[in-house]
Amino acid sequence: MSHLVAPSLLAADFGHLDRDISMINNSRADWLHIDVMDGSFVPNISFGQVLLPFIKKASTKPLDVHLMIHHPEKYVEQFADLGADVISVHYEACDHLHRVIQQIRNAGAKTGVALNPHTSVDLLEDIIEDIDLVVIMSVNPGFGGQKFIHNTLTKVRRLKKMITDVNASTQIEIDGGVSMVNAEELLKAGADVLVAGSSVFKADDPVAMVERLKSIEQYKSF
Ligand code: DX5
Ligand code: ZN
Repeated sequence: MSHLVAPSLLAADFGHLDRDISMINNSRADWLHIDVMDGSFVPNISFGQVLLPFIKKASTKPLDVHLMIHHPEKYVEQFADLGADVISVHYEACDHLHRVIQQIRNAGAKTGVALNPHTSVDLLEDIIEDIDLVVIMSVNPGFGGQKFIHNTLTKVRRLKKMITDVNASTQIEIDGGVSMVNAEELLKAGADVLVAGSSVFKADDPVAMVERLKSIEQYKSF
């Protein structure tokens, strides 16, 4: 399957959300990435449940909700009911990750687990087959527009091997600092989903930038 592109709404113009969401509707984007931040797990507060119904109504793309919050288990059902199609929680924010994954699945959403830059992909070995998506953070979460951390490529290769070794269908998403500069290398390393905030919304022509990210050829080595 060809790779997916998920523009991150965090980089949109919040004064013109309707316009920016319809711009993404009219692009080849596959998902719309939604960054929820609590000011505790990450040093920034973005937005929460109040905005979800509006986003759901305006967007024709599946919503890929990235919960950068402590105790995500308190909110999983609520986000699923509000229209989240994918819900990713942070490994570092869950005391009982296996239970939270079941909770997301039972709520009817695809299950995602996000890893901060310092968290090893090896920690997912025993649950990899239960996860639909692993989100590898290629910046420290909390802000858009940060510089891509290069070691991410090594993590992606290791994770891809772990997934293929057990013949799982888990997808790998990369989040943070993704642009045309590193996208091809990420796809070659094994990435399946590219989140792109600033590189799409700050481009002169965001729709054309999505098209460029979608059109990159993949030369998978396995
Ligand atoms: C970072 C967020 C990212 C962010 C990506 O905490 O999880 O999704 O919006 O933005 P860019 O692509 O600008 O790094
Ligand atoms: Zn994100």
